[in-house]
Amino acid sequence: MRIFFSGGSGKAGHHVAPYLASRGHHVTNADLAPLGHPDVTDLRVDLTDTGQVYSALAGMPTTADLDEPDPRAGAGTSYDAVVHFAAIPTILRAPDATTFETNIRAHYNVLEAATRLGVRKVVFASSETTYGICFSRGERKPLYVPVDEEHPVVPEDSYAMSKVAGEVVSRSFQARTGADVYGLRINNVIEPHEYAEKFPAFLADPALRRRNVFGYIDTRDLGQLTLRALETDGLGFQVFNVANADTSVAATTQEIVDTFYEGVEVRREMGPHETFYSIDKARQLLGYEPQHSWRDVLDDPRA
Ligand SMILES: NC(=O)c1ccc[n+]([C@@H]2O[C@H](COP(=O)([O-])OP(=O)(O)OC[C@H]3O[C@@H](n4cnc5c(N)ncnc54)[C@H](O)[C@@H]3O)[C@@H](O)[C@H]2O)c1
Repeated sequence: MRIFFSGGSGKAGHHVAPYLASRGHHVTNADLAPLGHPDVTDLRVDLTDTGQVYSALAGMPTTADLDEPDPRAGAGTSYDAVVHFAAIPTILRAPDATTFETNIRAHYNVLEAATRLGVRKVVFASSETTYGICFSRGERKPLYVPVDEEHPVVPEDSYAMSKVAGEVVSRSFQARTGADVYGLRINNVIEPHEYAEKFPAFLADPALRRRNVFGYIDTRDLGQLTLRALETDGLGFQVFNVANADTSVAATTQEIVDTFYEGVEVRREMGPHETFYSIDKARQLLGYEPQHSWRDVLDDPRA
């Protein structure tokens, strides 16, 4: 596949974009800043600029194309798929209105240009924050656990509002064009080196992970899920929770329910360390199976 990957220079993208390239795909990274990876083509694009997005998607993916006949005679796009990760990825990096405006302008531009130019597969980064728990003022509990994709999304903050709006835009462009458009409600992204840096504190105090529904997602498993989403056709519009199979704390699920989820409906029996952020849908529809865990690199202090 020729993949137009936005945000490939960022925390998640600088793992996922090269991973897709390592699996034989041609990846063009559309970002304000270069990634500088030998297997990924960098293209400096401001995605909030509609003209730049159309021009980038209509352009040549690689200089190797100079020596190939142009099957589309310069019309439409040569890309087979778009992965849209670029965004202001949280609150408090920019003023709230800027976060919302940047994210939704970029998202609208990418979805409109991709689907109108003929891309048939778009995978985009949504967020766990859509469920409203992460950036609520004060404590907000899930209505039920495990939190699945049917859980209401009524966030209070500008970042998560932009992600909910992005899902609405995506659903509409899918309805208009019939392309496959899949949103990834990504949990807290963890790079492999962050286990040693961050997890000792998480294991000592599970309250630090309450706002993330105690979940996390290893960048390598995010790469696996993104690839599976690219390779799985025919699902129309979908959203998928994205997390690892276990929680990011040492406490058991029962201890977490007793301590943090009083009054919250527990919908099914759960394993002793099973994620509260359900990945059942991604398992069933995409064949996703996380391969990594903090337990691979740190001792469980409770074991
Ligand atoms: N990091 C997390 O824990 C997390 C959790 C859930 C969802 N997400 C989502 O995943 C995606 C990636 O997050 P991240 O942590 O890698 O973020 P990041 O900030 O590290 O990377 C985002 C990238 O987008 C680029 N970008 C921003 N505005 C742009 C614009 N106007 N034009 C072109 N490029 C632009 C930035 O230069 C950057 O390289 C985001 O959509 C984010 O909202 C992240």
